[in-house]
Amino acid sequence: MDKQAKKITIELLKLPVRIRDIRDIDKLNIDGFNRGTKKPFHKYVEIFINEFFTHKNVFLVIARHEKKGIIGEGRVVGKSTMYIRTLDDGRKVGWVDQVVTEKKFRKIGIGKQLEEMCCKIASEMECEEIDLSNSPEKENSVFWVKQGYKKRNTVMYRKKLNLRKSKDKKKF
Ligand SMILES: CC(C)(COP(=O)(O)OP(=O)(O)OC[C@H]1O[C@@H](n2cnc3c(N)ncnc32)[C@H](O)[C@@H]1OP(=O)(O)O)[C@@H](O)C(=O)NCCC(=O)NCCS
Repeated sequence: MDKQAKKITIELLKLPVRIRDIRDIDKLNIDGFNRGTKKPFHKYVEIFINEFFTHKNVFLVIARHEKKGIIGEGRVVGKSTMYIRTLDDGRKVGWVDQVVTEKKFRKIGIGKQLEEMCCKIASEMECEEIDLSNSPEKENSVFWVKQGYKKRNTVMYRKKLNLRKSKDKKKF
């Protein structure tokens, strides 16, 4: 195993969450997707905590690098989100999303370990399968095929919504 890979632990992000972990996660999104938070940081922290720790079907898996030999103390150098959806026929399906590893830690097995942890969660949550989306031009589709994913014959669509005006009453 790569020397750096030995210094990595894969874990679920749990409360109490460290602010610096949320900063690392934001940096990873910039690093991997060119898409960091556009919200003021305190607002991002609030959303983060509300979403990841109050919904039983949402999991954030992180890869933490050890700090000065102390495992569990270091930076977050990779992460993945796992959502569990229940379809209206009762089947459960996992959705793996936003997987990214820090550039200098790539190709040493961290992405694979993050995906394995997501699979474990999905299996424990009784999912039959896991879906994901990946742009066709992305060279990392090899990564997904290596983890056992097969290309589906479906196309994803997206509709942009106007942000709700704050004066509108919340109904949902
Ligand atoms: C895709 C990504 C998460 C892979 O992470 P990683 O930590 O480098 O992956 P691993 O080291 O665990 O790689 C596992 C296997 O996939 C292969 N692999 C990883 N990335 C690859 C790539 N871009 N092209 C070809 N093969 C790749 C590795 O060589 C390894 O192969 P092996 O098992 O035969 O040794 C990482 O490249 C990344 O963060 N990319 C930017 C963000 C992104 O696009 N995420 C995916 C969104 S759908």
